[in-house]
Amino acid sequence: MEKLVIEGGKPLSGAISIHGAKNAALPILAASIMAEGTVKIENVPDLSDIGVMLGILRSLGCKVELAGDTVIVNTNAVHQYHIPESLMSQMRSSIFLMGPLLARLGKVELYQPGGCAIGERKIDLHLKGLAALGVVIEDNGSRIVCTAKELVGADIVLDYPSVGATENIMMAAAMARGKTTLTNAAREPEIQDLQNFLNAMGARIIGAGTDTITIEGVPELVPCTYRIIPDRIVAGTIMIAAAVTRGSVTLNGVCPAHLTSAIHVLKRAGVQITIDGDIMYVCGSGRLKAVERIVTSPYPSFPTDLQSQIMVLLSLADGVSIVKETVFEGRFKHVDELSRMGADIRVDLNSAFIRGVPRLYGATVEATDLRAGAALVIAGLTAQGTTVIEQIHHIDRGYDRIELMLRSLGANILRTAPVVME
Ligand code: UD1
Repeated sequence: MEKLVIEGGKPLSGAISIHGAKNAALPILAASIMAEGTVKIENVPDLSDIGVMLGILRSLGCKVELAGDTVIVNTNAVHQYHIPESLMSQMRSSIFLMGPLLARLGKVELYQPGGCAIGERKIDLHLKGLAALGVVIEDNGSRIVCTAKELVGADIVLDYPSVGATENIMMAAAMARGKTTLTNAAREPEIQDLQNFLNAMGARIIGAGTDTITIEGVPELVPCTYRIIPDRIVAGTIMIAAAVTRGSVTLNGVCPAHLTSAIHVLKRAGVQITIDGDIMYVCGSGRLKAVERIVTSPYPSFPTDLQSQIMVLLSLADGVSIVKETVFEGRFKHVDELSRMGADIRVDLNSAFIRGVPRLYGATVEATDLRAGAALVIAGLTAQGTTVIEQIHHIDRGYDRIELMLRSLGANILRTAPVVME
C-alpha cells in the first residue's frame, strides 16, 4: 500500500494551476454517450475515479483515447446497457450512466451503489425522477433494471436538492419527448457545467444554477468539444493548506464565484484573500480566529466537501468553532484521526465543537474517505514532526497527484511505494 509521508512546518509558497473538476467531468463523460460520434472533453483531471468512468465507457462499447488532459470518446458503437457490479462498487458515480443510457438505448441494468464511509447515500430520488419520465424500474434491492420505451417530459419536484439526481434527470429529460420542469433542483456549478455541455451538443436546457431547471427535449444530440470548469474543492483545499501553513499562494485558473462561501469563512478566520479575475492570492500570515458556526448544506452554502479540511484550520484557530454537517450523516470520520494529531474536537450528533490548539503533531493516520484524506494532508503540512497517511487511494480519487501539487509549492511530502520482498 502506498503512503504519503509529510514533514510538517514548511509554509506553502508559489503559484499553482487548479485542475479540472472531478464532479463536473464524471457526469459530462457519462453524458458523452448521448451523442453518436466523437466527443472531445478537455481539462479532464487524471484521477482514479475518472479512470473507472473511462473503463465503464469502454465496457459500453465506446472507444476512448487520451491526449494529455483531453479525453476523446467515440460513441458510435455503444450497445451495452449492463454496468458490471464490480464497477458499480468501485465508484458511486457509475449511476450517472442511468440517464444517458436510457436516452441512448432505452435501457440500463445496474446495481445499488450501496453505502459508503460518509453516509447511506440512497438513490431513491434518481429513481423517482426517472419514473416520472416514464421509466419502468425493477429493483430487487441489489440489481436495478430500468427500461423506457419512450422518455416523456414531466413536472418533477425533488424532495431534496440532490446533485446526482438533478444531473441524472437532466440527462434523461434532454432527449425526452416534450418539456420537463425540475423544481428544487441542486444549484452546484457542476450542474451548470453539465447544462452547458448538453446544450453544446444541441440540448435545450435553461435554469441550471437556480432551483428550477427547464428542459425542452430534443430527438438527438450531436458531438462537440467542451472544456471542464476548474475544481472548486481542490482550490479550496489548497487555500486552506496555504492558510494553515502561514504560506502565501497564488491560485491560477480558478472560478472565485464558485468559492464564495468558502472565501467568506476563510476571511472570517483571518485569512487574507485577494481576487483578480481567475487568479486568487491567499496569505495566511495573520492569527487564525475561530468561526462561531459553519453549516454545510447544498450550494451556495458551505460545501460538505470542504468540511473536513476547514476543521483542520479551525483546530489551530483562537477560540471555539462549531461545524454542523447537514448533507451526509457519517462525515466526521476524520475527527478521530485529527485528534490523534492533537486536535481538540468533540462531536455531538451532526455538530463538531472545535477548540483551537497551538499546534498539531505528526502521527500515523488513515484516510477514511477522499476529503478526510485531504484534511489529513493539510494537518500533516502544518504539524510538528512526521505524518504518515495510509489508505491514500481515497485521496487519488479526487486529487491529481496531490504530493506533486504540494511539492511545487515547497511542501516536504513524498509518496512511498510498498517494499516488495523477494
Ligand atoms: C455529489 C458530489 C459529492 C458531494 C455531494 C454533496 C459528485 C460526483 N459528487 O454527490 O462530492 O459531496 O454532491 O455536495 O458530484 N440522497 C438521497 N437520495 C438520493 C440522492 C441523495 O437521500 O436519491 C441524499 C444523500 O444520501 C445525501 C444527500 O442527499 O445525504 C446529498 O446527496 P447528493 O446531493 O445526491 O450527492 P451526490 O450527488 O451523491
